[in-house]
Amino acid sequence: MEDRFVYMDYNATTPLRPEVKAEMIADLEVYANASSMHEAGRRARSRIEGARASVAGLIGAKDPERVIFTSGGSESNNTVFATMFHLGRKGPRRGIVTTRIEHPCVLNSAKWLEEEGFPVTFLDVDEYGMVRLDQLRDAVGPGTLLVSIMLANNEIGTVQNLRAAADIVKAAGAWFHTDGTQAVGKIPVDVDALGVDYMTMSCHKLYGPKGIGGLYIREGAPLAPLIRGGHQEQGHRAGTYNNLGILGFGLAAELARAELESYGKKVSALRLRLRDGILASVPKVRVNGHPTSVLPNTLNVSFPGAEGEAILLSLDLEGIRVSTGSACASGSLEPSHVLLATGVGPELAHGSIRFSLGRDTTENDVDYVISKIGPIIARLRSMSTIAF
Ligand SMILES: Cc1ncc(COP(=O)(O)O)c(C=O)c1O
Repeated sequence: MEDRFVYMDYNATTPLRPEVKAEMIADLEVYANASSMHEAGRRARSRIEGARASVAGLIGAKDPERVIFTSGGSESNNTVFATMFHLGRKGPRRGIVTTRIEHPCVLNSAKWLEEEGFPVTFLDVDEYGMVRLDQLRDAVGPGTLLVSIMLANNEIGTVQNLRAAADIVKAAGAWFHTDGTQAVGKIPVDVDALGVDYMTMSCHKLYGPKGIGGLYIREGAPLAPLIRGGHQEQGHRAGTYNNLGILGFGLAAELARAELESYGKKVSALRLRLRDGILASVPKVRVNGHPTSVLPNTLNVSFPGAEGEAILLSLDLEGIRVSTGSACASGSLEPSHVLLATGVGPELAHGSIRFSLGRDTTENDVDYVISKIGPIIARLRSMSTIAF
């Protein structure tokens, strides 16, 4: 076993940036309850509001009050779907439209509403993972309550054309939500340009702490709290403020915004180097996801004749950390629902690896992975009974 360590699983989570870590260690002293009226409480609150402004700045939200803090992407997505449950039970609109390639926290929320009697449509995607806008147009109507389409896919990196979708959704008078968890901090995101009513964010995907995230709520869009209690977060989400997480999120967002362009340039060059290196050293591979409308850090590759878990474990023995799809689905032997939706067959979907790069990835790391992947695939293929 090599003692070299290459982390290429940044879509699963990212390490804390040293600046954020240092800030959070200092922030451990900020213990006052940010709802307390005394001076220490007011000071804690004012720092939280500063962090809110930083997060709002990263997504182009002009009014920071339109952002609330949650425990992460899963909670933000669940909050939107729970809101629709309350609205749909009472109102004339009940239709939910989402896609087949969403993260399980959206898919399972949509399935929950379906079980509760809401009509739910799961939109197909094309071979690149792009939502079919003609299908969206057919699916929405006067009965549609919510359309939820993720901005960027966690497994294949495809970035949707949300602006075009928003025009269709808003013309039908429905609410429009996007799960921006994988996009925020990686590509420019502007809630007004995208035309969304709600957007989900998660801090641990952008070099901040885990257990903290956010939800953008356009003015006028309804929101029912998932957690009821005190008046925190304008009554949208009760519970004592998570000072430490929020301050870490604020700084991570500020740094991500300042470095968005340099980050994008750096990781997309590394991604192309990895893609081309794999294509040159391994025959018969398939690169999944959209060729251009894709996250700069995400490369999903199918290796026919090899099994994903075996590739993952062989790479792990060389100190290379990747994933077979989403970390949330790992442990399950089901082929990726995202790849299946793009038309990749179950066998090929089983032989797929997600390489997700980050701000600490180097050319050396990429070259090391390229040098190891060829022999690993050749060995696994030589033992395989799968024809390819
Ligand atoms: C697209 C997407 N949505 C939601 C989540 C869940 O976010 P969190 O871990 O903050 O709950 C993830 C995490 O993997 C994700 O990739």
